[in-house]
Amino acid sequence: MPLPREFIDELIDRNDIADVAGSYTQLKRAGRRLAGLCPFHNEKTPSFTVFQDTRSFYCFGCGASGDVISFIMKAENLSYMEAVKYLAQRAGMEMPENTDSRLSNLRTRILAANREAARFFFRSLNSEAGKEARGYLRRRGLKDSTITRFGIGYAPDSWADLRDHLYGLGFKEEEVLAAGLCRKSQKGSVLDFFRDRVMFPVIDLTGNVVAFSGRRLKDNGDPRKYVNTTDTLVFKKSKVLFAMNLAKNSLARSREIILAEGQMDAISMHQAGFDNAVAALGTALTEEHIKIMSNYADSVVIAYDADEAGRKATQRAIGLFRNSPLSIKVLDMTGAKDADEYINKYGPEMFRKLIDGSAASLEYELKRAEAKYDLFTDDGKVRYLREATDIVAKSMSPTERDIYAGRLADKTSASKESIVKQIESAVRRKKRNELADREERLTDVQKRYDVKAANRRQIGGISAEHRLIALVYWNPDKRETVKTKLGGVHFSDGDLEDIFDHMMVTEVTDPTKWLSYLSEDLGQDKTQKLSHIVNEYRGISFVDDDIDYLCDKIKSAANRLNDRDIGNMDPEALKKMIDNKSGGGSNGR
Ligand code: CTP
Ligand code: MN
Repeated sequence: MPLPREFIDELIDRNDIADVAGSYTQLKRAGRRLAGLCPFHNEKTPSFTVFQDTRSFYCFGCGASGDVISFIMKAENLSYMEAVKYLAQRAGMEMPENTDSRLSNLRTRILAANREAARFFFRSLNSEAGKEARGYLRRRGLKDSTITRFGIGYAPDSWADLRDHLYGLGFKEEEVLAAGLCRKSQKGSVLDFFRDRVMFPVIDLTGNVVAFSGRRLKDNGDPRKYVNTTDTLVFKKSKVLFAMNLAKNSLARSREIILAEGQMDAISMHQAGFDNAVAALGTALTEEHIKIMSNYADSVVIAYDADEAGRKATQRAIGLFRNSPLSIKVLDMTGAKDADEYINKYGPEMFRKLIDGSAASLEYELKRAEAKYDLFTDDGKVRYLREATDIVAKSMSPTERDIYAGRLADKTSASKESIVKQIESAVRRKKRNELADREERLTDVQKRYDVKAANRRQIGGISAEHRLIALVYWNPDKRETVKTKLGGVHFSDGDLEDIFDHMMVTEVTDPTKWLSYLSEDLGQDKTQKLSHIVNEYRGISFVDDDIDYLCDKIKSAANRLNDRDIGNMDPEALKKMIDNKSGGGSNGR
């Protein structure tokens, strides 16, 4: 059990940080702060500071920083729980019963709650309440063994069955909320997040249940067909691929992934024997998804839906993959709207043929372009060539470009030479456009914020991520606004993102206690970072515009990171990366 909030409250109330630190070094008051010689490094002039308004310490000399518990951990060389015991003893307090520090971490508790929820949903599917859901899955052609393999379940049509079940197992309100399994109603009651839905657990690569995707069973007024767990401490939608936990085993052999649009497609494929299928979860494909795939595979077959949305998503994915070391093929799913339907209609053997016949992505794009023009007319040929050379120009490989130039020449009976020229100029145009794009994005941001040039100077080189964290720390009531503005974008610094995520899910009424609330889950290094930040930015007042400004900055930094990643590597660096990757792989590949 985690330490009860009331216990922590009392502990830090009764162990004033000035008293505690004051017994290790002599502190002198200087305005709102107390200063003394640092107990953690040798110094002659005092740079160790205690701030009572944040109940924290900060040494300008060695950088040591944190709350009173971190102070004791450092000073007495103790673990978190030992330091808590030490301070309890100092204040003459009893330790609460059943405190097992191993279980106290919020992340661990969320994973435990998710696991219990998955079992609850699975049992409920196989109970009387799950009858309709069972019928639904049967109609969709899922075998019992598939249902078990994926741990599919059913969230009953009730407001609080899961909540009560989890409470009964000892989970706390904070935990079921942080897991995203429950939500708070406007009136403040804790309600189940998923109701009357078929539940697909989302499992990470180490076998943890990190989230759920719930599919509507019948038309019940809820317009959302699928509802997914919102991002939590253990789940980032943009970083997880559904069924990757299963696919990774077969990928050790085949090194080829099938990427489906929906999780039902991935499940159907697995049931039909294609156990290398995965799907993104209700989100567009991200660089992070691609990174995960490139850890396990050399090639990807894109098997998105056959509708307009699917084709658009395919085009977009091809663009993203182009900057990765993965080779790409695209499935031409004529005759069905998606893979799930295709397999149910035509069977696994036909699907196998489809995969084997899937074309390389360039080919796929050329075929689509060809269909648009009449190649029997000169005008059609010219217009086709214009589009086709643009497509070929997207290839990073000169050899590939040369091969396709030859093919285009055959197809249109234009000279290969002229086609090569046209491709080369398309390559140059593409580079110019990319540069211009980037410039434009930059000036856009600058234009919007020139007014705040003074403000920008104040920030200096310190990142927007620091500032945003400080802003939230000093203004916890702005959390919802910040969360919405930021929209799940990733920080460039993983530690800072972790700190931020924890701040988003930890309830606080008295901000001076926040550091101590967070320090248990954050651990010493991150607590120190956070303590630094809040003390660095003390006394700076924030205005609402700052939220926009900082969120934009963080977002554009995230974009830059994506661009930079693999896309702009030179061929040498790319080759190195590929070589490195395969060095550790199986069979010397
Ligand atoms: N999705 C979502 N929210 C929605 C609709 C879709 O998160 N409101 C996600 C789901 O992960 C889904 C994927 O987008 O698996 C593809 O959507 P869709 O093509 O509608 O799913 P299908 O696989 O066709 O779903 P089903 O066969 O169950 O109708
Ligand atoms: Mn479908």
